[in-house]
Amino acid sequence: MTAKEQWWKNAVVYQVYPRSFQDSNGDGVGDLKGIEERLPYLHGLGIDVIWISPIFKSPMDDNGYDISDYYQIDPVFGTNDDMDSLIRAAKELGIRIILDLVVNHCSDEHEWFRRASEDEYSVEAGYFYFKRTSDGKAPNNWRSNFGGSVWSRLADGRWYYHTFSPKQPDLNWENPLLRKEIYKMVNWWLEKGIVGFRVDAITFIKKDLSFQSVETEDGKLYPVENFENYPGINNFLSELKRETFDRYECFTVAEAPGVRNEDFSKYAGDDGFFSMIFDFAWESMEGEKDKSSVEAVERLKQKLFTSQQFISRHGWCGVFIENHDQARCLNRYLEQKDRNYYSASALATLYFFLYGTPYIYEGQEIGMENTVWNNVDELDDTRAKIIWKEKQGQGEDEKELLRYFNDWGRDNARTPMQWNDDKNAGFTTGKPWMKVQSNYKKLNVAKQSRDQNSLLSFYKKLIKLRKGELLKDIMINGEFYPIWEAQGGLIAYQRVYKGKTVTVLVNFTNAEYGLNLETFAPWVSDSLEEKILLNNYQAIRRSDQVIFLQPYQALVVIDTAGQEK
Ligand code: GLC
Repeated sequence: MTAKEQWWKNAVVYQVYPRSFQDSNGDGVGDLKGIEERLPYLHGLGIDVIWISPIFKSPMDDNGYDISDYYQIDPVFGTNDDMDSLIRAAKELGIRIILDLVVNHCSDEHEWFRRASEDEYSVEAGYFYFKRTSDGKAPNNWRSNFGGSVWSRLADGRWYYHTFSPKQPDLNWENPLLRKEIYKMVNWWLEKGIVGFRVDAITFIKKDLSFQSVETEDGKLYPVENFENYPGINNFLSELKRETFDRYECFTVAEAPGVRNEDFSKYAGDDGFFSMIFDFAWESMEGEKDKSSVEAVERLKQKLFTSQQFISRHGWCGVFIENHDQARCLNRYLEQKDRNYYSASALATLYFFLYGTPYIYEGQEIGMENTVWNNVDELDDTRAKIIWKEKQGQGEDEKELLRYFNDWGRDNARTPMQWNDDKNAGFTTGKPWMKVQSNYKKLNVAKQSRDQNSLLSFYKKLIKLRKGELLKDIMINGEFYPIWEAQGGLIAYQRVYKGKTVTVLVNFTNAEYGLNLETFAPWVSDSLEEKILLNNYQAIRRSDQVIFLQPYQALVVIDTAGQEK
């Protein structure tokens, strides 16, 4: 693919979690018409692509990541016509749509699985992994990603395999008939006018067919995630690409954790299996006692820099600080006392100019935060429920468990979008399927739209700047260099292309930070103010050659001195 066709390198992608974005018919659940109603908002934000999490027919065990019919829109989200209408309306605004491709597994209510369960000699029985055991025990000791065994049992005694919940049986990619069905479906959607896919959990599609137990020290189950990217997967992925993506001008981003460095370019290099894969290397500061400590920031910085330096030499990635599988970014990267406009805009600046395509998750642009979960019944996430039960069975303290899900639970990202200060934050006129975060009266889109100094306005500036003519080339082609690495608490990097340099400088601490320009940045010592493209503070505090970066101050600076004239 030529550079010209790699339009997605200069795009900004916005992720919609459809249940929680906008309800149009008062049933309390977001839908496709709701997304269409909000297109002007997304257009105004400046994004290019919308990734919609699954909207296909589903029993909703995992909110749509358990698909029972790949060709139908689930009635709760609308109709196939609504999807056509959304694609058309988005196109008119220059916005492209990608859907979630969930093909590691389907739902146990998919007709394939129904037939497979009813008749072990059916064609569809070959679409899944079934085993019988003589001792009545599960075939091995592998632990599902959502807790418990990867095996569940049918009434006739057969065990079936699931990487995620028991309602998400894994599809058997070894079977060419199954693969053909998948390619047919992928192409059917591409024909409809979507421009590509976010590809779900794809590194799990190849299994270790020995299915042998792995000894563990404590006798506990062995995490199946250790089998990600299992040898042999390349054959499946190149065939998928050849039979589907390559036939269209298709954009793909894969959720592909576990890809080893030596395999990276096969996945996301030029002509890789995908246009890009997400970079999960620095997705949170989990485990840090004090996220604002210089040591914690340094650890984050190291992970970020190592990953960026590697990826920028081997391919392309999606960069993100939030998605539907995580707590809100402000909670994950910042202590409560430090969460404010400055730190939120610093975090945004920090990732927006990295090597890769930036993704924004709904609500991130206004600084939505985790909500408070008072008891387990308030949680919706199937993963949380399975893990809760498992840990409870192991005698774990319920208060601790609740605290964990308050801090890290996926439900935090799934509370309804806060549009305005009307009832239910303008999300629905009915009863919302999930509780609305109580701070919506003061934190919402309407309020921030009216305020030039809001986080939302800041995101608009970021998007415009990143995509604008001045930086476009650098963002697409520019190399990545960490700078001033020894400066604890300061995260600074440069993107360089044809003599043009963009410097991103973030004081990621809650204390003032003095920086001597003569020592660190002689190229701007006289003219810093003129070269600043973005500053999340009104001004720069400066005394002669020393600038005093304020807590969470973030700057984007351009230098064109080296440019060929
Ligand atoms: C991916 C999705 C997640 C889902 C899982 C199973 O990790 O992002 O939401 O639960 O796959 O489909």
